[in-house]
Parts: sequence; C-alpha cells; structure tokens
Amino acid sequence: MAEQKATNIHWHEGAVTREERKANMGHDGASLWFTGLSGSGKSTIAVALEQVLLQRGKHAYRLDGDNIRFGLNKNLGFSAEDRAENIRRIGEVTKLFADAGVICLNSFISPYAADRDAARKLHEDGGLKFVEVYVKCPLEVAEERDPKGLYKKARAGEIKGFTGIDDPYEEPTNAELVIDTSTCSIEEAVQVLLDHLDSVGVTA
Ligand code: ADX
Repeated sequence: MAEQKATNIHWHEGAVTREERKANMGHDGASLWFTGLSGSGKSTIAVALEQVLLQRGKHAYRLDGDNIRFGLNKNLGFSAEDRAENIRRIGEVTKLFADAGVICLNSFISPYAADRDAARKLHEDGGLKFVEVYVKCPLEVAEERDPKGLYKKARAGEIKGFTGIDDPYEEPTNAELVIDTSTCSIEEAVQVLLDHLDSVGVTA
C-alpha cells in the first residue's frame, strides 16, 4: 500500500449526488475486474462486452493491462512490487470511472489476491459496485493460443518472470463470476456478464 506523502490536504465534496449521476447516465457505475493468465481471453471478452454495452446505450470504458503500460504505468515492470503498484493505480482509476457512473472494464492479469482484494475494498468502502471475473483457462490452452508469442519466449528463457511459467498466479477464491474460456464462447461470456450486470442492478 502506497504511503500518504502529501500533508495539509482536505477532501472537497461535490454538489452532485450519486442518484443524480445515475439518473443522468441511465445506469449505475461499476467496476468489472477481469483477472486471469495472459492469453486467457480477458481483453477479448472486455472488448466484446464494451461494444454490446455501447450498442445498448450504456456508458462503458476499458482499461487494459498492455495499453495502460504504454502510458499511465509506463514506469512499471513485472516485479511483484511493480505489479502491485500497477493494480493499486488501476484500482484507483477504475474507482473514479465507477464513481463517475461509467461501467469500467479492467483487464489485468493481477496475479496477487491481495492486490485484487485491495481494489475491491476501495470500491466497497466507497459504496461502489465491484465485480471480480475470473477468466479461467488452463495454462496449456493459453500457451497453445499464445497470441503475442510471449509463452514461446518465456519457455525459451527470453522473458523472465512470466506469469504461469516462472511467476505465480493466485487463483481467485471469491470471484463473483468464473468464466472458463476453454469451454465457453465469447458470445456466451458476454451474455453471462450482461445477465450479471442486470442481476446486481447496474443496468436493470
Ligand atoms: S499485471 O500482472 O501487472 O496485472 P498486466 O495485465 O498489467 O500484468 O500486463 C500483462 C501483459 O504484459 C501480458 O498480457 C503480456 O502481454 C505482457 N507481459 C510482458 N511481460 C510479462 C510478464 N513477465 N508476465 C506477464 N505478462 C507480461
């Protein structure tokens, strides 16, 4: 957890209520947190879901591990410490999106349970919805897909500390949803997510 460095700062409350924001947006804000191995299908599902949500007039936006590392988190690598800071920052950013009334879709390996739980706690403490989605996929299947050729490099020793090969992935034990992409199609996954968003009152 990052230390609080700044002193003499004061929270400045806004005048807009969450209900006003919800009425304006037409639905609740929420953070969906897709966690899983590289190549498990996190980003693919998030891209498909974002498209459907927008087609239905919802406000959705994606934050993606690879993309965020080109900008906001360009100074972070893949040590356990850097991964924790990556997830800490994104937890804060997606909380802002959710507070703004957006359905924010986050695709990050986020291999450590403690980091994911901290993102969840941020939301729960702020009265915001957080949905953890374990995008489950056997390592053999992710490695067979190898969309970016990274498993091959990791096996060849060209990438050190690659998740699932020589770096840990802690499987979620309290995820709201588990989607096994070795047996479930993208369309089925999107439907499961849409149903869940309805059932927890985000879009209903
Ligand atoms: S996380 O572990 O900090 O959550 P994040 O989701 O941001 O990771 O980034 C993962 C992506 O970075 C992978 O999909 C892959 O394309 C790339 N990558 C590069 N090096 C590694 C590595 N050592 N371990 C995992 N992914 C890596």
